[in-house]
Amino acid sequence: MQFDEVVQGRRSIRGYLDKPVPRALIREVLQLAMRAPTSLNTQPWNFYVVGGAVLDRIRKGNVERNLAGVPDSREFRMGPGYQGVHRERQIGIAKQLFAAMGIARDDKDARQGWVLRGFRQFDAPACVVMTYDKALEGGDIAQFDVGAVVNSLVLAAWSRGLGCVINSQGIMQSPVVRAHTGIPEDEIIMTCVAMGYPDFSFPANNVRSRRRPVEEVARFIGFDD
Ligand SMILES: Cc1cc2nc3c(=O)[nH]c(=O)nc-3n(C[C@H](O)[C@H](O)[C@H](O)COP(=O)(O)O)c2cc1C
Repeated sequence: MQFDEVVQGRRSIRGYLDKPVPRALIREVLQLAMRAPTSLNTQPWNFYVVGGAVLDRIRKGNVERNLAGVPDSREFRMGPGYQGVHRERQIGIAKQLFAAMGIARDDKDARQGWVLRGFRQFDAPACVVMTYDKALEGGDIAQFDVGAVVNSLVLAAWSRGLGCVINSQGIMQSPVVRAHTGIPEDEIIMTCVAMGYPDFSFPANNVRSRRRPVEEVARFIGFDD
């Protein structure tokens, strides 16, 4: 695939075929993704690739704690919640997804069902949990570096026929993830990526999220043309 085709074609995949992803393919995707640049080439990331019965136990634990009302315990901080234009954009993508899925605004059960899908890692056959070394806590660079590799990962996966969604919901109950993966205490869980073969008949998978125009976000300074 050409670069433009990968970047333009990729979108978040929230419905998967019931088909396992070979370990060798995920390994290849990770190897490609890790060409991402990092500050001073520190490569502060760690990947926990989870599938099978272990992933099912994480899904179960996530859903149980969510239904029991256990507060989020994510380790990579979210902040106080989005306001203003950021909130508007958050609502914008939610509206696109709910419209595609036929979920009405006042249908609380369907909305809750959608949230639980996220806690179940969208029923993907695999998921990659990403951590960075706690020794780097206190700065913002390690998080920048992991962000770079996450983007590389979802693009590399797409180029190999795999779909992904970066899924904060999957690590909101971090003790569940730690308990089932053995992530050591000297690593901070940053995010996870659900991964598998896309089910293109799943309506949300065909939603194209919007982007702000370049004219709105970029200022060119010192150019004559
Ligand atoms: C840090 C991060 C966390 C995300 N967490 C979630 C999530 O919990 N649930 C979800 O459905 N999508 C999640 N997403 C996916 C975004 O909603 C999605 O990337 C965005 O709406 C743009 O859509 P696109 O990926 O299809 O271009 C997350 C993306 C990022 C970068």
